[in-house]
Amino acid sequence: MKNVISGADPAPPTAHPRTKEKEVFEDYLLPRYVWSEEECKNVELTHVKPETWSDHFAYATVWCLRFSWDLITGYTFAKKLRLGRFSSSQWALRICFLETVAGVPGMMFAMVRHLKSLRTLQRDHGWIHTLLEDAENERMHLLVAMKLYQPGKAFRYGVLLTQGVWSNYLFLMYLINPRYCHRFVGYLEEQAVKTYTELLKDIDSGKYPEFLEKCDDIARNYWHLSPEATWRDVFAQMRCDEVYLHIFFFFFAHFGNITARNNFFLIDNRPITEELTTV
Ligand SMILES: [Fe+2]
Repeated sequence: MKNVISGADPAPPTAHPRTKEKEVFEDYLLPRYVWSEEECKNVELTHVKPETWSDHFAYATVWCLRFSWDLITGYTFAKKLRLGRFSSSQWALRICFLETVAGVPGMMFAMVRHLKSLRTLQRDHGWIHTLLEDAENERMHLLVAMKLYQPGKAFRYGVLLTQGVWSNYLFLMYLINPRYCHRFVGYLEEQAVKTYTELLKDIDSGKYPEFLEKCDDIARNYWHLSPEATWRDVFAQMRCDEVYLHIFFFFFAHFGNITARNNFFLIDNRPITEELTTV
């Protein structure tokens, strides 16, 4: 095939420098953090208290969603009431489904802000990019977790239905009350941190030896893990990502108006600081 403008042969498809160790997707992924062992160990569960009525509504919605989801998936019976075993495949299903949900808000919010910027002829001041990074990060969590789970028809229809409701809800609510949406997602991330902490505790207590096996290449490449890295190391990286996003969305709820510049990624090149946790 010839280049239609110059008539020259087009550049080969592998124009970017790659190494054998790198997956092709490494060339186009958005920036993300790779967490140190120390950071993975020192995660603290934090709760941001609701202040306004919309914060309370956001927190209550997340609480209801979590309660129903735990009940439907058997998590309440197995983990909270200790009436059975929550298997590793149930964990994988839970993570995969939740990551299909978690990947929506960043993209939806970024789209609404993008449209608003076009509509109002005003700058966005850097928030769109961080939201897109969030969306990709959550989608990568899903793609990594899919190496542990084979979805059936019920799962796929469930994702389809949830996405239809979820994306429309977020689109409308972001037009009406962006602060509510940021808080809402912040509380979702809070729950994600709790869930991954629970999983890591279970792995450390020896309940899931299968998660101490070597992880898949897609995870190893995404977080630049060692060749010996296990699925436990992957879940620890995911938990740090969720902490980061938890802090980001509460920061965003506090400072993210249309005229504010996004300073989130500029603070010491690391998001977890006292300055942010007090937001
Ligand atoms: Fe996630």
